[in-house]
Amino acid sequence: MPKTSALDRQRSVYVGGAAGKRPKIPIDLSRLEAAARKRMSTEAWAYIAGGAGHERTIAHNTSAFDRWAIVPRMLRDVQERDISTTLLGHSVPAPLFLAPIGVLEMVHPEADLAVARAAGALGLPFVFSNQASVPMEACAAAIGETPRFFQLYWSRSDELVIHFLQRAKACGCSGIVVTLDTTLLGWRTRDLDLAFLPFLRGMGLAQYTSDPVFREIMEAPDPAPVDRPRPTAKAVYTLIAANRRFPGSFWKNLRSGAGLRAVRTFVRIYSRPNITWQDLPFLRQHTDLPIFLKGILHPDDARKALDYGADGIYISNHGGRQVDGAIAAIEALPAIAAVVQGKVPILIDSGFRGGADVFKALALGATAVGIGRPYCYALAIAGQAGVEELLANWMADIELTMALAGCKNLEEIRQTPLLDRKA
Ligand code: FNR
Ligand code: LAC
Repeated sequence: MPKTSALDRQRSVYVGGAAGKRPKIPIDLSRLEAAARKRMSTEAWAYIAGGAGHERTIAHNTSAFDRWAIVPRMLRDVQERDISTTLLGHSVPAPLFLAPIGVLEMVHPEADLAVARAAGALGLPFVFSNQASVPMEACAAAIGETPRFFQLYWSRSDELVIHFLQRAKACGCSGIVVTLDTTLLGWRTRDLDLAFLPFLRGMGLAQYTSDPVFREIMEAPDPAPVDRPRPTAKAVYTLIAANRRFPGSFWKNLRSGAGLRAVRTFVRIYSRPNITWQDLPFLRQHTDLPIFLKGILHPDDARKALDYGADGIYISNHGGRQVDGAIAAIEALPAIAAVVQGKVPILIDSGFRGGADVFKALALGATAVGIGRPYCYALAIAGQAGVEELLANWMADIELTMALAGCKNLEEIRQTPLLDRKA
């Protein structure tokens, strides 16, 4: 990774401009969002951009950064700059990764594959979602040598959980990210108003429909058969959509009812709201991969995570999609960092929108930052190339913010006190 990549990126934008060439995606975040919205269906926009309740936590996730200010220091020789770091023993070019985002087929036809290719091109880790639109094996092949993780939703079927863990290991994942904050879907006002949930249309089920254990569960007699819905035009459309998305021939799926059965099986076994800390050893028994717990917001839960032998803490409020009014992720970081004391890596996401946010998180004790919605927007506008540009832009922004604040590398950022406006 060249040490002056920020200047290269800046130069390529400006020189391109002089030749009449504009970047593929807007660099300003509100313009990025606006351009993405134009490319998305009403349902896709609501699902991606929306969150729980009045979306106060979505707003707070970004405004909470204002509590802290960077106080730049001068004359510190920032000629040689390095934003690379290590994550679980892997060298990565920046303290960034791509957070798990389900149902990317709503955003772009290449979905997770385009994101995996972009992550691979930049060498930034990608967390494959349990609700992905492309099976993890295909994404693993597309990402090349770049580290990848698998995000697990704890299903009601132990056999399925075990098999997902095995598949993750077999396709070279460096760790399992267990998402704890979504044992139930939050009260998502925009989706409810549209009466739209992508999974019921057969979207975001690729990890399941590609899985032989899931297929077996699907074929077993349904323990609680439901009444067949009245065949309205919309219901027929949904049936067609679900069968089109199921692997194999559409007509065969339609005849066998596979698409609809997959949806119903998914709804039945998707999640286990009764999991507790005592269940964590089960995961440990079934995988030797490092385990990250995603959704930690309280320092006591961070302490528990360490007690249970978690290999990493992942602070997140799921981008404000679960508990409206929840603490912002960045607000939760200082107390959690004080508990963790560098014993395990701290990942964080929710509300990060550029280099200054990443700087602040590192200064407050985070190891690496997850990009969420912004990469969906880049994907919507320009596919793989859009995501690549977005990642390059974030890396340039981090490098310039770091240098102009007087730091040459991430270690120096970690030593830099921020001004706490509340102190
Ligand atoms: C998510 N997120 C998520 N998390 C997870 O563990 N598994 C998943 O399948 C998904 N799916 C998902 C879909 C969509 C459309 C969004 C926006 C988010 C949460 C994600 O990993 C991350 O925590 C948030 O996106 C971070 O918030 P921002 O930065 O996107 O606002
Ligand atoms: C969501 C689930 C897929 O946030 O995590 O929509």
